[in-house]
Amino acid sequence: MQNAALTAAGLGHWRYQLLPAAPELLHELVRALPAAGFLGANVTIPHKGAALALATAPTDRARAIGAANTLTFEPGGAIVADNTDAPALVAALPFTIPGRSALVLGAGGSARAAVWALRNAGAREVQVWNRSPDRARELCAELGGTPAGTPAGRLPGVDLLVNCTSVGLDGSDPFDRLPVSADDLTRYGCVVDLVYAPGATRLIAAARERGVATVDGLELLVGQGALSFERFTGRAPPVETMRFAVRGRPQLS
Ligand SMILES: NC(=O)c1ccc[n+]([C@@H]2O[C@H](COP(=O)([O-])OP(=O)(O)OC[C@H]3O[C@@H](n4cnc5c(N)ncnc54)[C@H](OP(=O)(O)O)[C@@H]3O)[C@@H](O)[C@H]2O)c1
Repeated sequence: MQNAALTAAGLGHWRYQLLPAAPELLHELVRALPAAGFLGANVTIPHKGAALALATAPTDRARAIGAANTLTFEPGGAIVADNTDAPALVAALPFTIPGRSALVLGAGGSARAAVWALRNAGAREVQVWNRSPDRARELCAELGGTPAGTPAGRLPGVDLLVNCTSVGLDGSDPFDRLPVSADDLTRYGCVVDLVYAPGATRLIAAARERGVATVDGLELLVGQGALSFERFTGRAPPVETMRFAVRGRPQLS
């Protein structure tokens, strides 16, 4: 996706490449990158917290979220850390957020980005459910939002349901592991699944079958990547090229 974008932007002589990194070597690796000619890096699980910690100039949102997915290396030696997952979520939604209500499933790094993004964008209410309820409570204490603990099991219908758990990644049935049933999905104005899979995850497929608006994980992958591209290059991201590189076709929904 990034290499296709670089070529489309006339930067075909640049390269975006995969660098496997052991957690204990991340700091050392990142510190060596600028001298090796790298202008930036994306980091993913499990490095997002460590990437923030090693940055010398984190953005306010990366600091608030506690995780960074994009590092840029400044000519003076500063390492800037940003989180582009958060703005990508808000930008991908089919409606604006002020006054809306949301239910976020999960309390890991991506849930933190989602809760921060939705609250920062003016959501009226953000409820957070997590398999381990203590983590949802901790997240809400830190970032705002309300823990959605319902002994009876049924969670409220809201404008937006955002799955920030890794459920579905291995093809497992989300309706076995998450506190929503397929038919419950009609109670949400839009269903977002951060998990991405070729085609659609079962959560996204079930929402589409019921006529509910959806944003899938591939669209968020493109969105966060487009914002990272802008940071790396200072140029407008060729989003359609990136989408095509990820999906093999333009977005359909
Ligand atoms: N599309 C994108 O651009 C994008 C961006 C970021 C992340 N993601 C995807 O989003 C997912 C979550 O990422 P993350 O960084 O937030 O991961 P993380 O920090 O490891 O958090 C994982 C979350 O999933 C929950 N979980 C794991 N297994 C579960 C199960 N069997 N039943 C219920 N809950 C379960 C965990 O609950 P506990 O606290 O109870 O363990 C936790 O809330 C990953 O699949 C990742 O690939 C996609």
